[in-house]
Amino acid sequence: METVVSGIRSTGKLHLGNYYGAIKNFIRMQDEFNCYFFIADLHSLTTHPTPENLHDTVRQVVVEYLAAGIDPEKATIYVQSHVTEVIELYLYLNMNAYLGELERATSFKDKVRANPDNVNAGLLTYPVLMAADILLHRATKVPVGKDQEQHLEMTRTFGNRFNRMYKHDYFPEAFAFSYSDKLIKIPGLDGKGKMGKSEGDANCVYLSDSPEAIRKKVMKAKTDSGPTIENQQKPQEIQNLFDLMKVVSTPDTVAHFDELYNKCEIRYGDFKKQLAEDMVSATEPIRSRIEAISADDAYVSRVVAMGAEKARESARKTIKDVREIIGFRSF
Ligand code: TYM
Repeated sequence: METVVSGIRSTGKLHLGNYYGAIKNFIRMQDEFNCYFFIADLHSLTTHPTPENLHDTVRQVVVEYLAAGIDPEKATIYVQSHVTEVIELYLYLNMNAYLGELERATSFKDKVRANPDNVNAGLLTYPVLMAADILLHRATKVPVGKDQEQHLEMTRTFGNRFNRMYKHDYFPEAFAFSYSDKLIKIPGLDGKGKMGKSEGDANCVYLSDSPEAIRKKVMKAKTDSGPTIENQQKPQEIQNLFDLMKVVSTPDTVAHFDELYNKCEIRYGDFKKQLAEDMVSATEPIRSRIEAISADDAYVSRVVAMGAEKARESARKTIKDVREIIGFRSF
């Protein structure tokens, strides 16, 4: 059976981008593959969280994984820092990761632009740690959104380079995976790019947002003054809202508003109201479980302990092989 690995950074609450880009696939994949879904708390250190909130943000992601429907009996749910073998593999892979290729990574360049005073080595080698996460379980499928595609390419580069370097066909190639025909990119509400936590709270609809909060954010989303020519192309901010509607609403609803737009009869107030209601309904089953699961400390602890145990077992085996391949021998 093929192995699947994916993770989400522990930045706290999950948004619709995380859900439609990654988690929806996790939920289906857990029935078909050997799955490892983790919370990337080591990766989150690249942007310096404080000791006061690190634990809570990790716990929140565990709770939301469970609330979204990841079943700890089917998939292995673990916290990245609990399986320290990944740090060892990260070190080995770093020896064969070149400065030039790391500097060229889009995610690195974006981070440098956004935070020029915090360009740390962890940020530069972020894709190496990500490759270590995937190669640690010798996974072949990685459910992620479109923004992670380049990291998957780098993972294949590092795995193949290791194989060539040590003349062992050890790491398989891993590919980004989605059940839809292409990788998903969920836009944010600000009319610009993707939904993402670093783009600010107003840009994201969180799975844990109350219906009132969702309505408020959606009604505030940027729109223009409306179409004036029949069948005209939609400007970015309007296209983004339609793209969001495509994931939470029925095809009939999308077709209805599309027709109104094309006839220049759309009223953005009605359009946004419908979008907000469909977002409320789409997130309702998850939202209603978040609180109950979060209140059950014993359950959350049990899930995390069980996941660490299972993930370590797979990780230990890989590290043992890798040490041998590299040439470390016992005395
Ligand atoms: P992160 O935490 O930024 O995002 C987690 C997952 O959510 C997806 N995602 C989106 N998909 C579509 N539209 C969006 N607007 C959107 N925003 C986020 C991401 O593509 C991702 O799948 N580097 C990873 C975490 C990671 C990882 C790994 C993933 C660490 N190690 C190993 C896979 C395998 C990250 O920062 O994701």
